[in-house]
Amino acid sequence: MKFLIAALSIAQAFAFSVIGANTRPISTQLHAAADYVPKEGEGKINLLIDLESPKVANMEEMSSGKKVFCRCWLSGTFPLCDGTHVKHNAACGDNVGPLIVTVKSE
Ligand code: FES
Repeated sequence: MKFLIAALSIAQAFAFSVIGANTRPISTQLHAAADYVPKEGEGKINLLIDLESPKVANMEEMSSGKKVFCRCWLSGTFPLCDGTHVKHNAACGDNVGPLIVTVKSE
């Protein structure tokens, strides 16, 4: 069974607003996606990954197995989680974590 996933959906990107100090996120705030309209320069989530690109999108194809995808935008192995979210959560009290996808072969 083929399985395609866009690791980071637009809905996810708009669901969180990161309020940062300097260049690192210090807290996240959940917004209703329909009501969320960021002001220029506010709410930036991605502070590290492929910044020169107008949009970061990833597609993975899996026939079976397990993959762990980063949702904190801090992983050194993005789009895969490298555990950096643990340090981030400990430092600022956030609770972000990865998306774990498993596909069972038929
Ligand atoms: S490193 Fe980003 S969710 Fe794990």
